[in-house]
Amino acid sequence: MKSFLHLHDQDDATIRALLCSAAAIERAPISDALKGRILGLVFLNPSLRTLASFQAGMAQLGGSSFVITPGQGTWALETRDGVVMDGAAAEHVREAVPVLCQYADALGVRCFAGGADLNLDLTEPVLSAFARHATKPLVNMESALDHPCQALADWKTMDDLDIPQSGRFVLSWAWHPKALPYAVPSAALSMAARRGMKVTVLRPEGYALPAAVMERAREQAARSGGCVRETSDRAAALDGAHVLYAKSWQAEAHYGRPESEAALRAPLRDWCVAESWFETARKDAVFMHCLPVRRNVKVKDEVLDGPRSRVIRQAGNRLHAQKAVLLHMLETQ
Ligand code: CP
Repeated sequence: MKSFLHLHDQDDATIRALLCSAAAIERAPISDALKGRILGLVFLNPSLRTLASFQAGMAQLGGSSFVITPGQGTWALETRDGVVMDGAAAEHVREAVPVLCQYADALGVRCFAGGADLNLDLTEPVLSAFARHATKPLVNMESALDHPCQALADWKTMDDLDIPQSGRFVLSWAWHPKALPYAVPSAALSMAARRGMKVTVLRPEGYALPAAVMERAREQAARSGGCVRETSDRAAALDGAHVLYAKSWQAEAHYGRPESEAALRAPLRDWCVAESWFETARKDAVFMHCLPVRRNVKVKDEVLDGPRSRVIRQAGNRLHAQKAVLLHMLETQ
């Protein structure tokens, strides 16, 4: 059974094959390769791109899909073992996942970080519970610490743009009104490191990514000849950069305490990406973001609507990349 839970645990040949397949799918999007196959999509958290692109992708490959939104259209789900279920959740993953696997050929799950206990979130408790009980291939549609479909689409986007494998990639923290999880920054950082890029994490003091996230990125860089460093010096970080990838994340020291985290973040509103940030970057440097993005909060209109922005292409590549993943999981099953 082939699941797709993380990009970082795929071997080089698989990543190359997925990117090659995604490019071929983009050129010839319609087929009946997955005729009669069904994808079950479980969304414990909201989505626009992931939901729409998985459903569209499955339809373009001749298959179909259904969507489960626990606690909204369907029963709220309990994911912890050994609990007394006298709260909101009426159904446990121990039953729900094997049941859904009888109706579908593969499952996808979106399960963001709980956000209260970092050590717990680092273990990916919900994704792991789904993986334990799934009897069909499982795809991670964004979990506590990872967003591998976004990462694969971002890799393809940089290939499409002829950004060198050893190019300079800056992952920059940006201001946001809420304390956000580590899934996308972790996935983007690890992906760029694995691609062999010279990666810089640009963040204000207090916003270093957790050690486990940085360690994984350094392991990925070691496999590919890339490197990873971090700084709070914007001009130095962006010097010669090919890519500025913006994302917000919360301060580790305040994890699970959004009120105190908000106090640390309050004076950092100038961390909103502007054209002036690119002064030391390459002339043709591009701006990337996974979307959704808050305009003039995380990035100014002048960048998002300007020639550097590649956010629409990134989102488009979600479709092609995920269809490659679906074929990889289901064609030989
Ligand atoms: N980038 C991304 O995953 O978008 P959605 O949250 O809308 O699915």
